[in-house]
Amino acid sequence: MKVPYCRIACDGNELAYVREVLASGWLTTGAKALELERRFAEVVQAGHAIAANSCTSALHLALEALGVKAGDEVFVPTMTFTASAEVIRYMNAHPVFLDVEYGTSLLTPGIVREAIREHPGVKTLVVVHYGGQAAPLFGRGGEQGILEICRQHGIRVVEDAAHAFPTKLGDAMVGSIGDVTCFSFYANKTITTGEGGMLTTNDAAIAARARTMRLHGIDRVVWDRFTSAKPGWEYDVVAPGFKYNMPDINAAIGLAQLERAWDFQRERLRCAKHYLRDLAGAPHLDLPVSHGPVEDQAWHLFPVVLTPGAPVGRDRCIEMLAEKGIGTSVHYRPLHRMSYYRDTYHLKPEDFPQAERIWSGCFSLPIFPTLGDDELSYVCGVLRDILEGRE
Ligand SMILES: Cc1ncc(COP(=O)(O)O)c(C=O)c1O
Repeated sequence: MKVPYCRIACDGNELAYVREVLASGWLTTGAKALELERRFAEVVQAGHAIAANSCTSALHLALEALGVKAGDEVFVPTMTFTASAEVIRYMNAHPVFLDVEYGTSLLTPGIVREAIREHPGVKTLVVVHYGGQAAPLFGRGGEQGILEICRQHGIRVVEDAAHAFPTKLGDAMVGSIGDVTCFSFYANKTITTGEGGMLTTNDAAIAARARTMRLHGIDRVVWDRFTSAKPGWEYDVVAPGFKYNMPDINAAIGLAQLERAWDFQRERLRCAKHYLRDLAGAPHLDLPVSHGPVEDQAWHLFPVVLTPGAPVGRDRCIEMLAEKGIGTSVHYRPLHRMSYYRDTYHLKPEDFPQAERIWSGCFSLPIFPTLGDDELSYVCGVLRDILEGRE
């Protein structure tokens, strides 16, 4: 049997909606992108949604709109994709890398509190909803949440929700909680536009700035220039903006994907439950820990950690799975181990003990909506054989 790491599901209305765009004669940002923004805002219960051409560009727009300045420091977890931190460098600001919690790979209120004590000047935090589980922004059982701690210290919270659509935290949808939230619609994400992203916020000023900077710092949208009664040529440039808009061709794919977002989430949850059941108690294997109901998570990833004493190391385990036709990935080699960040900021592995513990054994199993129960059972069987020394 062959089980790929990822299989993309674009067999709904994607083609029909893209055809509409091609037939309309308007290929760049227009009616479809506006429609995607409107519908996405509705689903995540956000005041404003701004479509971008990637999550990376949405994160850049977020930091720019928040007024992050050259020389500022910004908190970011080490267990993430480089995009979460590189956008801080785009602003000529500096990332302050934080360790994460073993089991969830998330920031915790304790980690954030400690970081504020050590770096009292930091005014922005990028929090990552690793794997599709929301970080503890709200407090639990008398303990303050990350959001409350940040509010008390005047720290703005940018949520990197590249993995987290649709994800709930208590009664709230991720996208309606922090100051700004950024989603990814990259090809292998929980919904895709090929390449794309979305910024959501409840702050009208942040939304207005992000909208302007998304398209060259022009003070009106190009779509509006062609549809409104005002002369089409007339616009002002109010800042040196970026070219981060989402074309309608991509938005059309996104609209078809959005129609099935909850179906996709249900199927990913089915996969996660299958793994949690079949791999429970497997020797030398730590399964992902959930703070809240598993039903609330997007399940973009199913990360596991091979623990010391396993019959084979992580790299050999990945090879053995590949020999049996099973695709895997690794999320992540932490950023403090990437040469650019390590050398620029003189980072040492011993300063990130939990991320190191995760990194030494972590890999991600296939999880996608069309992954069959027979395929899931096969993956679990092969992995158990490896862990129990039968391979
Ligand atoms: C945590 C995280 N943040 C940001 C991104 C960047 O997303 P995009 O490729 O849409 O720019 C990714 C992409 O994989 C990611 O995993």
